[in-house]
Amino acid sequence: MAQVQIDNIQMAYTDVGSGRPVVLIHGYPFNRSLWNEQIAALSGSYRVIAPDLRGFGESDSSDGPSTMNRMAQDVALLLDHLGIPRITIGALSMGGYVTLAFYKQFASRVRALILADTRAQADTEEAKQTRARQAEKALSEGMAGIADAMLPKLLTPETVSKRPEVVKRVRDMMLKTKPEGAAAALRGMAERDDQTSLKISVPTLIIVGAEDAITPVADSEKMNQAIPGSRLVVLENAGHVSNLERSEKFNEALLDFLSESSS
Ligand code: MLT
Repeated sequence: MAQVQIDNIQMAYTDVGSGRPVVLIHGYPFNRSLWNEQIAALSGSYRVIAPDLRGFGESDSSDGPSTMNRMAQDVALLLDHLGIPRITIGALSMGGYVTLAFYKQFASRVRALILADTRAQADTEEAKQTRARQAEKALSEGMAGIADAMLPKLLTPETVSKRPEVVKRVRDMMLKTKPEGAAAALRGMAERDDQTSLKISVPTLIIVGAEDAITPVADSEKMNQAIPGSRLVVLENAGHVSNLERSEKFNEALLDFLSESSS
């Protein structure tokens, strides 16, 4: 595992392969191991960098909300450290919120975008209140309750009943998350900007599980309409964690897009 001091934290990251750099940003409340299948599929042809965001995986947490802007700045500092000026950035869910914040601040560093199971809208007032309650719950009770409540929303009913290895993988990632890191990210997500009017002018691939119950297909369709020239791929038999539930199809879409957007 590689680690670097970024701002006030030690940040852990994976950096494998060579070629054009692709950065993969995980969702909440996961860590960079979310991307193991994508790292394996891409690293033969690309340099793949996958950080643990502030407060997740093996990266330190910090005081105050982990805002999307701050986590995006962490990614930019990591790239500075690695001497990488320009990247393709791919992300799932909260990683997508971080990626849109990254694009807003550092558009000239972005060659192409992959937005999986995410949305451009900010939280509603009701969603903000739910986040505040979940942050308290994570801090007072730990991650088990959060993991149990989230699992049926993250995966399709079929995955939940027939693929215990996927359920275990997702649950274990959530249980490993530090409650203070989760709480800081929940507070950060609650205060994120609405990015629906962000003008995106790089090649963009949007992927979503057909049964995504957290960021439904309609959210991806809205982004697809708003981003000129973007491509939308809807993965059947997949929920919110579509990169794990349909990793082969997900990787196929990624590899096709990367080879087209690199040429
Ligand atoms: C995620 O998967 O990153 C989160 O569920 C996103 C969210 O809660 O909005």
